[in-house]
Amino acid sequence: MLPGSATRRLAATRFFDVRRFESLDSTNTYLLDQARSGAPEGVVAVADHQTAGRGRLGRSWVAPPRASLLASVLLRPVDLAIDRAHLLTAAVALAAAEACEQLSGVRPSIKWPNDLLVDDRKLAGILAEVELGAGPSLEAVVVGIGLNVAWAGEAPPEVAGLAVALDEVSGLTVDRDELLVEMLLGLERRYGDLRAVASEYRATCATVGRRVRVDLIDGRIEGVAADLTPDGRLLIVADDGSQQTVTAGDVVHLRPQGG
Ligand code: BTN
Repeated sequence: MLPGSATRRLAATRFFDVRRFESLDSTNTYLLDQARSGAPEGVVAVADHQTAGRGRLGRSWVAPPRASLLASVLLRPVDLAIDRAHLLTAAVALAAAEACEQLSGVRPSIKWPNDLLVDDRKLAGILAEVELGAGPSLEAVVVGIGLNVAWAGEAPPEVAGLAVALDEVSGLTVDRDELLVEMLLGLERRYGDLRAVASEYRATCATVGRRVRVDLIDGRIEGVAADLTPDGRLLIVADDGSQQTVTAGDVVHLRPQGG
């Protein structure tokens, strides 16, 4: 349960059922289990600490207790084809960036596919996991975010220099419940119009137009991130002139050549 004021603000949205845990293995794992047991769209899980937090590309996600927003939402997008599922993570990224700006004054940028960055350091990561149904559309999608809220100057050693917390960049310790509520309100607004999410994401994704290096499981590409494809892949014009689309990988924003 969230405090009364937060509960009231979410009452008219699909995200009224917020389940809060002191400790959980992973908010994504919890909601995937709930989804398989028939839980309805809109259930939210939030934890002060995760013992087995998961990140993209099979990595783990480690965060000190009570220092981050660790939250997942269960969505059941009727008739959304799997090649549009990336718009759900985009909607969460956009809503989270907006919530940060509203509460801290700092607007993070979005790095493809869905990292929030401040000064090229990672503020938040997002992991979407799908449950496929029998037909072409999705049975359930769980989207989880880990957002570094307050490290009080002590970044976890494993991410020092690479990641950043909101208190460090804004000078403010934002309330994690308020951040969650603002994010969920922003997600509620966007969820009904995923076409608009596609345009908003394309217009604001900081990777588009940048010189990038993409580290793939089996190699590396350097070039310019020219555009996004309708199914959310990154179109790269590589330095050797070839065009390649990337589905998953680690993107590093590089300085312009000669810059
Ligand atoms: C990334 O690798 O950048 C994505 C990290 C996603 C972490 C969040 S924390 C809440 C939710 N539960 C998890 O186990 N993972 C996501």
